Amino acid sequence: MSEEKGSFSGKVGFVLAAAGSAVGLGNIWRFPYLAANQGGGIYILTYVILVVFVGFALSLTETALGRRTGKSTLKAFGALDRKSGWMGVLPALVPAIILPYYSVVGGWVVKYLGSYLTFNGAELISDSFFGSFISSPYSPLIGFALFFVVTSVIVSFGVQKGIEKASRFMMPILVVLCIGVAIYTLTLPGAMEGMKYLFVPNFSQFSFKTLFSAMSQMFYSLSLAMGIMVTYGTYMKKDVKMDTAIAQVAVFDTAIAILAAVMVVPGVFVFSGGNPEALNKGAGLMFVTLPKVFASIPGGDFVGILFFVLVLFAALTSSISLMEAIISELMEIKQMSRRKACVIVSIYSLALGSLASLGFGPLSFIKLVGFTIFDFMDFASNNVMMPVAALIICIFTAWIIKPETFIDEVKLSSTFKVQKIYSVVIKYVAPVLILLVLITSVMEGLGLISY
Ligand code: PFF
Repeated sequence: MSEEKGSFSGKVGFVLAAAGSAVGLGNIWRFPYLAANQGGGIYILTYVILVVFVGFALSLTETALGRRTGKSTLKAFGALDRKSGWMGVLPALVPAIILPYYSVVGGWVVKYLGSYLTFNGAELISDSFFGSFISSPYSPLIGFALFFVVTSVIVSFGVQKGIEKASRFMMPILVVLCIGVAIYTLTLPGAMEGMKYLFVPNFSQFSFKTLFSAMSQMFYSLSLAMGIMVTYGTYMKKDVKMDTAIAQVAVFDTAIAILAAVMVVPGVFVFSGGNPEALNKGAGLMFVTLPKVFASIPGGDFVGILFFVLVLFAALTSSISLMEAIISELMEIKQMSRRKACVIVSIYSLALGSLASLGFGPLSFIKLVGFTIFDFMDFASNNVMMPVAALIICIFTAWIIKPETFIDEVKLSSTFKVQKIYSVVIKYVAPVLILLVLITSVMEGLGLISY
Protein backbone atom coordinates (compact mmCIF):
# COMPACT_ATOMS: atom_id res chain seq x y z
CA MET A 1 0.00 0.00 0.00
CA SER A 2 1.46 3.37 -0.90
CA GLU A 3 1.26 6.24 1.52
CA GLU A 4 1.50 10.03 1.42
CA LYS A 5 5.11 10.95 2.11
CA GLY A 6 4.26 14.12 3.99
CA SER A 7 6.14 17.40 4.25
CA PHE A 8 7.67 19.79 6.75
CA SER A 9 5.27 22.42 8.03
CA GLY A 10 7.39 25.28 6.66
CA LYS A 11 10.83 26.81 6.62
CA VAL A 12 11.50 26.54 10.34
CA GLY A 13 10.53 22.89 10.32
CA PHE A 14 12.84 22.22 7.38
CA VAL A 15 15.76 24.18 8.84
CA LEU A 16 15.51 22.48 12.24
CA ALA A 17 15.25 19.00 10.75
CA ALA A 18 18.03 19.57 8.21
CA ALA A 19 20.22 21.20 10.85
CA GLY A 20 19.38 18.24 13.08
CA SER A 21 20.73 15.94 10.42
CA ALA A 22 23.82 18.05 9.90
CA VAL A 23 24.68 18.62 13.55
CA GLY A 24 25.82 15.29 14.90
CA LEU A 25 28.76 13.28 16.10
CA GLY A 26 30.71 14.81 13.22
CA ASN A 27 30.46 18.24 14.82
CA ILE A 28 30.92 17.36 18.44
CA TRP A 29 33.30 14.47 18.34
CA ARG A 30 35.23 14.81 15.06
CA PHE A 31 35.49 18.53 14.33
CA PRO A 32 37.18 19.53 17.62
CA TYR A 33 40.02 17.07 17.31
CA LEU A 34 40.53 17.75 13.62
CA ALA A 35 40.60 21.48 14.29
CA ALA A 36 42.98 21.00 17.18
CA ASN A 37 45.50 18.76 15.54
CA GLN A 38 45.45 20.35 12.12
CA GLY A 39 46.58 23.81 12.93
CA GLY A 40 43.65 25.29 14.88
CA GLY A 41 42.82 28.67 13.37
CA ILE A 42 43.99 27.83 9.90
CA TYR A 43 41.87 24.69 9.81
CA ILE A 44 38.78 26.55 10.98
CA LEU A 45 39.35 29.28 8.40
CA THR A 46 39.75 26.72 5.59
CA TYR A 47 36.66 24.91 6.76
CA VAL A 48 34.51 28.05 6.83
CA ILE A 49 35.66 29.09 3.33
CA LEU A 50 34.82 25.63 2.01
CA VAL A 51 31.36 25.67 3.57
CA VAL A 52 30.61 29.08 2.05
CA PHE A 53 31.89 28.32 -1.42
CA VAL A 54 31.38 24.58 -1.88
CA GLY A 55 29.14 23.17 0.86
CA PHE A 56 26.37 25.68 0.31
CA ALA A 57 26.24 24.96 -3.44
CA LEU A 58 26.22 21.19 -3.00
CA SER A 59 23.61 21.24 -0.28
CA LEU A 60 21.42 23.51 -2.38
CA THR A 61 21.82 21.22 -5.41
CA GLU A 62 20.69 18.15 -3.52
CA THR A 63 17.74 19.90 -1.94
CA ALA A 64 16.69 21.35 -5.30
CA LEU A 65 16.95 17.89 -6.89
CA GLY A 66 14.56 16.56 -4.27
CA ARG A 67 12.07 19.41 -4.39
CA ARG A 68 12.09 19.63 -8.18
CA THR A 69 11.39 15.95 -8.76
CA GLY A 70 9.48 15.08 -5.60
CA LYS A 71 11.48 11.85 -5.64
CA SER A 72 14.07 10.34 -3.35
CA THR A 73 17.59 9.76 -4.61
CA LEU A 74 17.02 6.47 -6.36
CA LYS A 75 14.41 7.89 -8.70
CA ALA A 76 15.28 11.60 -8.72
CA PHE A 77 18.08 11.44 -11.30
CA GLY A 78 16.02 9.33 -13.70
CA ALA A 79 13.07 11.68 -13.29
CA LEU A 80 15.11 14.54 -14.79
CA ASP A 81 17.01 12.51 -17.36
CA ARG A 82 15.89 9.00 -18.17
CA LYS A 83 19.35 7.76 -19.07
CA SER A 84 20.84 8.95 -15.77
CA GLY A 85 18.69 6.83 -13.46
CA TRP A 86 21.70 4.70 -12.45
CA MET A 87 23.38 7.76 -10.95
CA GLY A 88 21.08 7.65 -7.94
CA VAL A 89 22.09 4.15 -6.87
CA LEU A 90 25.30 5.00 -5.04
CA PRO A 91 24.08 8.04 -3.07
CA ALA A 92 20.99 6.03 -2.11
CA LEU A 93 23.13 3.22 -0.70
CA VAL A 94 25.35 5.39 1.52
CA PRO A 95 22.85 5.91 4.37
CA ALA A 96 22.20 2.16 4.50
CA ILE A 97 25.87 1.65 5.30
CA ILE A 98 26.25 4.57 7.70
CA LEU A 99 23.08 4.08 9.77
CA PRO A 100 24.07 0.79 11.48
CA TYR A 101 27.54 1.82 12.59
CA TYR A 102 26.53 5.41 13.40
CA SER A 103 23.94 3.91 15.77
CA VAL A 104 26.65 1.78 17.38
CA VAL A 105 28.45 5.00 18.35
CA GLY A 106 25.06 6.38 19.46
CA GLY A 107 24.94 3.34 21.76
CA TRP A 108 28.30 4.27 23.30
CA VAL A 109 26.90 7.72 24.04
CA VAL A 110 23.88 6.10 25.73
CA LYS A 111 26.24 4.06 27.92
CA TYR A 112 28.28 7.12 28.94
CA LEU A 113 25.18 9.14 29.71
CA GLY A 114 23.82 6.20 31.70
CA SER A 115 27.01 6.03 33.76
CA TYR A 116 26.83 9.73 34.63
CA LEU A 117 23.13 9.55 35.44
CA THR A 118 23.64 6.61 37.79
CA PHE A 119 26.56 8.36 39.54
CA ASN A 120 29.05 5.96 37.99
CA GLY A 121 30.99 8.61 36.09
CA ALA A 122 34.13 7.49 37.93
CA GLU A 123 34.23 4.19 36.00
CA LEU A 124 34.72 6.10 32.76
CA ILE A 125 38.04 7.61 33.68
CA SER A 126 40.24 4.56 33.77
CA ASP A 127 42.47 4.32 30.70
CA SER A 128 41.23 0.89 29.79
CA PHE A 129 37.49 1.53 30.20
CA PHE A 130 36.63 2.60 26.66
CA GLY A 131 38.61 -0.18 24.97
CA SER A 132 37.27 -2.93 27.16
CA PHE A 133 33.71 -1.56 26.97
CA ILE A 134 33.51 -1.47 23.17
CA SER A 135 35.10 -4.88 22.84
CA SER A 136 32.84 -6.58 25.36
CA PRO A 137 30.15 -8.72 23.73
CA TYR A 138 26.87 -7.55 25.28
CA SER A 139 27.15 -4.21 26.97
CA PRO A 140 27.58 -2.07 23.81
CA LEU A 141 24.75 -3.96 22.14
CA ILE A 142 22.32 -2.83 24.83
CA GLY A 143 23.10 0.88 24.26
CA PHE A 144 23.00 0.34 20.52
CA ALA A 145 19.60 -1.35 20.63
CA LEU A 146 18.17 1.41 22.86
CA PHE A 147 19.52 4.13 20.61
CA PHE A 148 18.19 2.41 17.54
CA VAL A 149 14.73 1.78 18.93
CA VAL A 150 14.32 5.49 19.78
CA THR A 151 15.46 6.43 16.26
CA SER A 152 13.06 3.98 14.73
CA VAL A 153 10.08 5.04 16.84
CA ILE A 154 10.60 8.72 15.92
CA VAL A 155 10.85 7.89 12.21
CA SER A 156 7.76 5.68 12.36
CA PHE A 157 5.70 8.73 13.36
CA GLY A 158 6.40 10.34 10.01
CA VAL A 159 7.81 13.60 8.72
CA GLN A 160 5.86 16.20 10.67
CA LYS A 161 4.78 14.27 13.74
CA GLY A 162 8.03 12.36 14.11
CA ILE A 163 11.08 14.00 12.60
CA GLU A 164 10.01 17.65 12.73
CA LYS A 165 8.54 17.37 16.21
CA ALA A 166 11.63 15.62 17.57
CA SER A 167 13.90 18.21 15.96
CA ARG A 168 11.82 21.10 17.31
CA PHE A 169 12.24 19.63 20.77
CA MET A 170 15.87 18.54 20.68
CA MET A 171 17.60 21.23 18.65
CA PRO A 172 16.88 24.24 20.91
CA ILE A 173 17.94 22.22 23.97
CA LEU A 174 21.10 21.21 22.14
CA VAL A 175 21.97 24.84 21.38
CA VAL A 176 21.41 25.95 24.98
CA LEU A 177 23.50 23.07 26.32
CA CYS A 178 26.28 23.80 23.84
CA ILE A 179 26.45 27.43 24.86
CA GLY A 180 26.23 26.55 28.55
CA VAL A 181 29.01 23.95 28.46
CA ALA A 182 31.20 26.21 26.28
CA ILE A 183 30.85 29.08 28.74
CA TYR A 184 31.72 26.72 31.55
CA THR A 185 34.92 25.44 29.93
CA LEU A 186 35.95 28.99 29.12
CA THR A 187 35.88 29.88 32.79
CA LEU A 188 38.45 27.19 33.65
CA PRO A 189 41.78 28.70 34.58
CA GLY A 190 44.17 28.40 31.62
CA ALA A 191 41.36 28.01 29.10
CA MET A 192 42.40 31.11 27.19
CA GLU A 193 45.67 29.46 26.21
CA GLY A 194 43.61 26.68 24.66
CA MET A 195 41.48 29.23 22.84
CA LYS A 196 44.56 30.88 21.42
CA TYR A 197 45.86 27.55 20.27
CA LEU A 198 42.53 26.85 18.65
CA PHE A 199 41.77 30.13 16.99
CA VAL A 200 44.90 32.08 16.18
CA PRO A 201 45.74 30.95 12.64
CA ASN A 202 49.24 29.87 11.91
CA PHE A 203 49.54 30.08 8.15
CA SER A 204 52.73 28.05 8.06
CA GLN A 205 50.64 25.04 9.11
CA PHE A 206 48.50 25.09 5.99
CA SER A 207 48.95 22.07 3.72
CA PHE A 208 46.92 20.07 1.24
CA LYS A 209 46.04 17.81 4.10
CA THR A 210 44.33 20.74 5.82
CA LEU A 211 42.31 21.36 2.69
CA PHE A 212 41.36 17.76 1.99
CA SER A 213 40.51 16.82 5.50
CA ALA A 214 38.42 19.98 5.92
CA MET A 215 36.65 19.10 2.69
CA SER A 216 35.73 15.55 3.66
CA GLN A 217 34.71 16.70 7.13
CA MET A 218 32.44 19.24 5.47
CA PHE A 219 30.70 16.54 3.42
CA TYR A 220 30.08 14.43 6.43
CA SER A 221 29.03 17.31 8.60
CA LEU A 222 26.56 18.82 6.16
CA SER A 223 25.13 15.33 5.45
CA LEU A 224 25.98 15.66 1.77
CA ALA A 225 26.24 13.00 -0.93
CA MET A 226 24.04 10.48 0.80
CA GLY A 227 20.58 11.29 -0.37
CA ILE A 228 19.52 12.99 2.82
CA MET A 229 19.18 16.49 1.51
CA VAL A 230 17.46 15.11 -1.59
CA THR A 231 14.92 13.36 0.63
CA TYR A 232 14.42 16.40 2.85
CA GLY A 233 14.10 18.51 -0.31
CA THR A 234 11.08 16.43 -1.33
CA TYR A 235 9.44 17.47 1.93
CA MET A 236 10.12 21.19 1.37
CA LYS A 237 7.17 23.23 0.19
CA LYS A 238 7.58 25.25 -2.99
CA ASP A 239 7.11 28.61 -1.26
CA VAL A 240 10.04 28.10 1.14
CA LYS A 241 13.07 30.23 0.24
CA MET A 242 15.50 27.44 -0.42
CA ASP A 243 18.71 29.46 -0.59
CA THR A 244 18.22 31.18 2.75
CA ALA A 245 17.05 27.95 4.37
CA ILE A 246 20.19 26.11 3.21
CA ALA A 247 22.39 29.03 4.26
CA GLN A 248 20.83 28.88 7.73
CA VAL A 249 21.47 25.16 7.98
CA ALA A 250 25.12 25.64 6.96
CA VAL A 251 25.64 28.49 9.43
CA PHE A 252 23.95 26.51 12.19
CA ASP A 253 26.06 23.43 11.52
CA THR A 254 29.32 25.38 11.37
CA ALA A 255 28.52 27.39 14.47
CA ILE A 256 27.83 24.25 16.49
CA ALA A 257 31.06 22.65 15.23
CA ILE A 258 33.06 25.68 16.34
CA LEU A 259 31.21 25.82 19.66
CA ALA A 260 32.00 22.14 20.16
CA ALA A 261 35.67 22.91 19.63
CA VAL A 262 35.32 25.62 22.27
CA MET A 263 33.69 23.12 24.62
CA VAL A 264 36.25 20.40 24.16
CA VAL A 265 39.64 21.86 23.30
CA PRO A 266 40.28 24.35 26.14
CA GLY A 267 39.16 21.76 28.70
CA VAL A 268 41.52 19.12 27.37
CA PHE A 269 44.23 21.73 26.99
CA VAL A 270 43.96 22.77 30.62
CA PHE A 271 43.78 19.18 31.78
CA SER A 272 46.88 18.15 29.85
CA GLY A 273 48.89 21.16 30.99
CA GLY A 274 48.97 22.63 27.48
CA ASN A 275 50.31 19.54 25.75
CA PRO A 276 48.92 19.44 22.18
CA GLU A 277 49.61 15.70 22.04
CA ALA A 278 46.64 15.22 24.37
CA LEU A 279 44.37 16.45 21.59
CA ASN A 280 45.69 13.94 19.16
CA LYS A 281 43.48 11.13 20.35
CA GLY A 282 40.94 10.73 17.57
CA ALA A 283 37.93 8.74 18.74
CA GLY A 284 39.41 8.62 22.20
CA LEU A 285 39.18 12.36 22.71
CA MET A 286 35.48 12.32 23.52
CA PHE A 287 35.26 8.91 25.13
CA VAL A 288 38.60 8.70 26.95
CA THR A 289 40.00 12.15 27.62
CA LEU A 290 36.85 14.20 28.21
CA PRO A 291 35.56 12.05 31.12
CA LYS A 292 38.95 12.62 32.79
CA VAL A 293 38.58 16.34 32.22
CA PHE A 294 35.10 16.27 33.76
CA ALA A 295 36.37 14.28 36.73
CA SER A 296 39.06 16.86 37.38
CA ILE A 297 36.80 19.90 37.61
CA PRO A 298 34.27 20.95 40.21
CA GLY A 299 30.75 19.91 39.24
CA GLY A 300 32.26 17.81 36.46
CA ASP A 301 29.77 14.95 36.76
CA PHE A 302 26.94 17.36 36.16
CA VAL A 303 28.74 18.85 33.15
CA GLY A 304 29.23 15.25 31.97
CA ILE A 305 25.46 14.70 32.07
CA LEU A 306 24.77 17.89 30.11
CA PHE A 307 27.50 17.12 27.62
CA PHE A 308 26.37 13.58 26.86
CA VAL A 309 22.70 14.63 26.67
CA LEU A 310 23.67 17.09 24.00
CA VAL A 311 25.76 14.53 22.14
CA LEU A 312 22.86 12.10 22.35
CA PHE A 313 20.41 14.62 20.88
CA ALA A 314 22.85 15.52 18.14
CA ALA A 315 23.38 11.86 17.26
CA LEU A 316 19.65 11.06 17.35
CA THR A 317 18.58 13.86 15.01
CA SER A 318 21.28 12.66 12.60
CA SER A 319 20.37 9.00 12.79
CA ILE A 320 16.69 9.75 12.18
CA SER A 321 17.69 11.53 8.97
CA LEU A 322 19.77 8.55 7.89
CA MET A 323 16.88 6.21 8.58
CA GLU A 324 14.37 8.50 6.88
CA ALA A 325 16.45 8.56 3.70
CA ILE A 326 16.24 4.76 3.51
CA ILE A 327 12.57 4.62 4.52
CA SER A 328 11.56 7.13 1.87
CA GLU A 329 13.30 5.05 -0.79
CA LEU A 330 11.49 1.90 0.31
CA MET A 331 8.14 3.65 0.45
CA GLU A 332 8.72 4.97 -3.04
CA ILE A 333 10.11 2.01 -4.91
CA LYS A 334 8.34 -0.80 -3.10
CA GLN A 335 5.13 1.12 -2.42
CA MET A 336 5.55 0.04 1.17
CA SER A 337 3.81 1.53 4.20
CA ARG A 338 5.99 3.60 6.54
CA ARG A 339 5.50 1.12 9.34
CA LYS A 340 6.53 -1.90 7.29
CA ALA A 341 9.57 -0.03 5.94
CA CYS A 342 10.55 0.85 9.52
CA VAL A 343 10.36 -2.78 10.59
CA ILE A 344 12.50 -3.94 7.68
CA VAL A 345 15.14 -1.22 8.13
CA SER A 346 15.22 -1.91 11.88
CA ILE A 347 15.89 -5.62 11.40
CA TYR A 348 18.58 -4.87 8.84
CA SER A 349 20.28 -2.18 10.95
CA LEU A 350 20.15 -4.14 14.17
CA ALA A 351 21.78 -7.10 12.42
CA LEU A 352 24.51 -5.12 10.66
CA GLY A 353 25.14 -2.81 13.62
CA SER A 354 25.52 -5.83 15.93
CA LEU A 355 28.14 -7.25 13.58
CA ALA A 356 29.95 -3.89 13.55
CA SER A 357 29.87 -3.74 17.34
CA LEU A 358 30.97 -7.35 17.81
CA GLY A 359 33.77 -6.66 15.34
CA PHE A 360 35.63 -4.91 18.15
CA GLY A 361 35.45 -8.01 20.35
CA PRO A 362 34.33 -11.56 19.58
CA LEU A 363 34.41 -10.99 15.81
CA SER A 364 37.68 -9.09 15.74
CA PHE A 365 39.23 -11.89 13.71
CA ILE A 366 37.12 -10.78 10.73
CA LYS A 367 39.08 -8.32 8.63
CA LEU A 368 37.86 -6.71 5.42
CA VAL A 369 40.71 -5.25 3.35
CA GLY A 370 42.58 -5.05 6.63
CA PHE A 371 39.80 -3.20 8.48
CA THR A 372 37.53 -4.29 11.31
CA ILE A 373 33.87 -4.51 10.24
CA PHE A 374 33.14 -1.09 11.78
CA ASP A 375 36.14 0.61 10.20
CA PHE A 376 35.40 -0.99 6.87
CA MET A 377 31.88 0.45 6.86
CA ASP A 378 33.28 3.82 7.82
CA PHE A 379 36.00 3.69 5.17
CA ALA A 380 33.74 2.42 2.37
CA SER A 381 31.08 5.06 3.01
CA ASN A 382 33.17 8.12 3.88
CA ASN A 383 36.35 7.68 1.91
CA VAL A 384 35.01 6.01 -1.19
CA MET A 385 31.26 6.13 -1.71
CA MET A 386 30.57 9.68 -0.53
CA PRO A 387 33.16 11.43 -2.71
CA VAL A 388 32.13 9.32 -5.73
CA ALA A 389 28.47 10.13 -5.07
CA ALA A 390 29.31 13.84 -4.71
CA LEU A 391 31.17 13.74 -8.00
CA ILE A 392 28.22 12.07 -9.71
CA ILE A 393 25.87 14.76 -8.39
CA CYS A 394 28.16 17.54 -9.69
CA ILE A 395 28.57 15.95 -13.12
CA PHE A 396 24.85 15.34 -13.40
CA THR A 397 24.04 18.92 -12.48
CA ALA A 398 26.78 20.66 -14.39
CA TRP A 399 26.93 18.70 -17.61
CA ILE A 400 23.77 16.64 -18.00
CA ILE A 401 20.82 18.70 -16.88
CA LYS A 402 22.69 22.04 -16.50
CA PRO A 403 22.71 24.20 -13.36
CA GLU A 404 19.86 26.34 -14.78
CA THR A 405 17.38 23.57 -13.96
CA PHE A 406 18.09 23.97 -10.25
CA ILE A 407 18.54 27.72 -10.47
CA ASP A 408 14.96 27.86 -11.78
CA GLU A 409 13.81 25.68 -8.89
CA VAL A 410 15.46 27.94 -6.32
CA LYS A 411 14.04 31.00 -8.04
CA LEU A 412 10.49 29.74 -7.59
CA SER A 413 10.59 31.33 -4.17
CA SER A 414 13.65 33.58 -3.99
CA THR A 415 15.77 35.95 -6.06
CA PHE A 416 18.88 33.76 -5.71
CA LYS A 417 21.44 36.54 -5.97
CA VAL A 418 24.46 34.23 -6.08
CA GLN A 419 23.38 32.11 -9.03
CA LYS A 420 26.48 32.92 -11.12
CA ILE A 421 28.84 31.84 -8.39
CA TYR A 422 26.70 28.76 -7.89
CA SER A 423 27.16 27.72 -11.53
CA VAL A 424 30.93 28.15 -11.42
CA VAL A 425 31.25 26.19 -8.19
CA ILE A 426 29.13 23.29 -9.34
CA LYS A 427 30.81 23.10 -12.76
CA TYR A 428 34.45 23.54 -11.85
CA VAL A 429 35.44 24.17 -8.24
CA ALA A 430 33.51 21.38 -6.54
CA PRO A 431 34.31 18.53 -8.99
CA VAL A 432 38.04 19.27 -8.96
CA LEU A 433 38.22 19.43 -5.18
CA ILE A 434 36.08 16.32 -4.77
CA LEU A 435 38.26 14.35 -7.15
CA LEU A 436 41.36 15.31 -5.19
CA VAL A 437 39.67 14.35 -1.92
CA LEU A 438 38.66 11.01 -3.37
CA ILE A 439 42.15 10.15 -4.56
CA THR A 440 43.89 11.19 -1.37
CA SER A 441 41.37 9.67 1.01
CA VAL A 442 41.41 6.28 -0.73
CA MET A 443 45.19 6.25 -0.78
CA GLU A 444 45.37 7.34 2.84
CA GLY A 445 42.75 4.80 3.92
CA LEU A 446 44.67 1.98 2.24
CA GLY A 447 47.89 3.14 3.85
CA LEU A 448 49.48 4.07 0.52
CA ILE A 449 50.26 7.60 1.66
CA SER A 450 50.54 9.23 5.01
CA TYR A 451 50.92 12.87 5.67
N1 PFF B 1 26.08 15.09 9.61
C1 PFF B 1 26.13 14.27 10.77
C2 PFF B 1 27.29 14.61 11.64
O1 PFF B 1 27.99 15.58 11.39
O2 PFF B 1 27.48 13.87 12.58
C3 PFF B 1 26.29 12.85 10.53
C4 PFF B 1 25.62 12.27 9.46
C5 PFF B 1 24.25 12.41 9.34
C6 PFF B 1 26.36 11.59 8.63
C7 PFF B 1 23.66 11.87 8.32
C8 PFF B 1 25.78 11.03 7.62
C9 PFF B 1 24.47 11.20 7.48
F1 PFF B 1 23.89 10.65 6.44
